[in-house]
Amino acid sequence: MDNSHRYILRQVEYTDCDLVFKWANDEVVRNNSFNSNIIKYEDHIKWFNEKLKSDDSVMYIFEVNDINVGIMRLDRLDDKSLLINYGIAKEHRGKGYATYLLQMIKAKYNKNLLIGKVKPTNMASIKAFIKAGYIMKDELDVKVFYSSDKN
Ligand SMILES: CC(C)(COP(=O)(O)OP(=O)(O)OC[C@H]1O[C@@H](n2cnc3c(N)ncnc32)[C@H](O)[C@@H]1OP(=O)(O)O)[C@@H](O)C(=O)NCCC(=O)NCCS
Repeated sequence: MDNSHRYILRQVEYTDCDLVFKWANDEVVRNNSFNSNIIKYEDHIKWFNEKLKSDDSVMYIFEVNDINVGIMRLDRLDDKSLLINYGIAKEHRGKGYATYLLQMIKAKYNKNLLIGKVKPTNMASIKAFIKAGYIMKDELDVKVFYSSDKN
């Protein structure tokens, strides 16, 4: 990534509700999710408000030069561990942004253990996690990535 770009992680606000809904129902996002059902708008609003209020989740919009490019959500698993969910808007894929986003979040949460669970068919995400320096463990139907091996 070159220095001419400005990369920011900003916390999601209530006004991001529709943007997050649009991204969540993207076809590739649904296919790569462990629950692939289409999300209804009313269910999204309820879910979104609960996530924003929760002390156990944090959501960021990944901005590149003030443009909303992707999303990163961390859900607390225990005192130290956080589960990663993330995506890049379809018009911004294939530019290395996922790799950079995964590196940024790893540096920001270097006191925590970040865990990503990826379907074995999701090659783009598998490559992004590997390039971002996460450690891969193969489980039965899922590739699990860890931000460090201190688990
Ligand atoms: C997975 C995702 C985040 C990758 O975002 P991205 O910004 O396009 O990824 P990058 O540009 O950093 O690319 C990572 C690697 O995957 C490769 N790649 C990109 N799209 C690919 C595809 N459709 N199939 C195979 N490889 C692909 C890239 O070429 C790159 O590898 P390389 O460096 O060896 O060339 C994006 O496709 C996405 O949002 N998908 C839907 C949501 C999702 O799957 N989230 C992750 C859930 S675990």
